[in-house]
Amino acid sequence: MTGTVEWICNFPMTQKNGIITPMRTNRRNFIGTTFAFAATAGCMAPRCGTAKAAKPFSLDGRCTLRMPVPGIPGPVNFFVVGDTHFGLHDARDDKHADNYKRMAQWPSPKDVLAKALKRAKDAKTDMVLLVGDIISFPTLANLDHLRAELDRFNIPWLYVAGNHDWHFEGDSGSDLEQRSRWIERRLKPLYKGENPLMYSRLVKGVRMVMIDNSAYHVTPEQLAFWKAEAAKGDPIALFMHIPLWVEGWNITTCGHPRWGAATDPYWEIERRERWAERLMPSTYAFREAVFGTPNLVGVFTGHNHKLMVGQEGNALLFSVPANRDGSCMEVQLSPA
Ligand SMILES: [Fe+2]
Repeated sequence: MTGTVEWICNFPMTQKNGIITPMRTNRRNFIGTTFAFAATAGCMAPRCGTAKAAKPFSLDGRCTLRMPVPGIPGPVNFFVVGDTHFGLHDARDDKHADNYKRMAQWPSPKDVLAKALKRAKDAKTDMVLLVGDIISFPTLANLDHLRAELDRFNIPWLYVAGNHDWHFEGDSGSDLEQRSRWIERRLKPLYKGENPLMYSRLVKGVRMVMIDNSAYHVTPEQLAFWKAEAAKGDPIALFMHIPLWVEGWNITTCGHPRWGAATDPYWEIERRERWAERLMPSTYAFREAVFGTPNLVGVFTGHNHKLMVGQEGNALLFSVPANRDGSCMEVQLSPA
């Protein structure tokens, strides 16, 4: 898929190895510039636009991606929201206090998701894509608040889990076991009857595919699901928590060649089992399949809490900055 990409983002940022990093000036504020990003798929060396006069940038900042897409009958608007990291808890989960006490030290503002949803509502968005780590641990208080915020705005949304959504630190079992356990016990209503690990929705001609890679692995079943969805031929957008690895991106991406128990940086801090010795081979095959999908609109993820823009072949990758810091990404697709 070819087309011009225009990138507008009210962050000052550095760009290195395809990673565009917003720079904080202090705890709450950024100094704003406008970054314009123009490229064609297949030849996408990022070119920085001219920085406009600096202006204060608050937690209400916005990221907008405008992209023409062949094969859609009209404009499509969607919002990508990730890494809200609500840190709420109450007496109902006192028995898990030891499991959430570390992450609860950094709760996000309680209204930070609502601000993004209000922006989406005002834009009359077609869909909000929640790409994981919306909560920092699966307490009932967190899930009640999340659901109440989503219900309050009454806009269409789809959800896929991040690694924190299902993680109580110090809990037993592997990441894959913990994911199954807490999806079943707590997260299940967020999928509205869909398969939590893979599902899709056709939205105004764009096939939106949700794949759970929150434990870094992609299973053979998920790989087969992707291939079947891509073969339907519609413009297809992929939403996951963890970005697919591209050259220069760090170990906390999906499909990194050195990912494994020996390179796990956080297992002791997060009180969990080390990563597996290596990724399931289907993870690498999935990455190749996604990058080789000719009708791919883009891959939208979170996890690293910073804006990352990358390209591999014709695939464009966008990892959104954290909603906990007031961010989300508005994507405006127009017919090519
Ligand atoms: Fe994450």
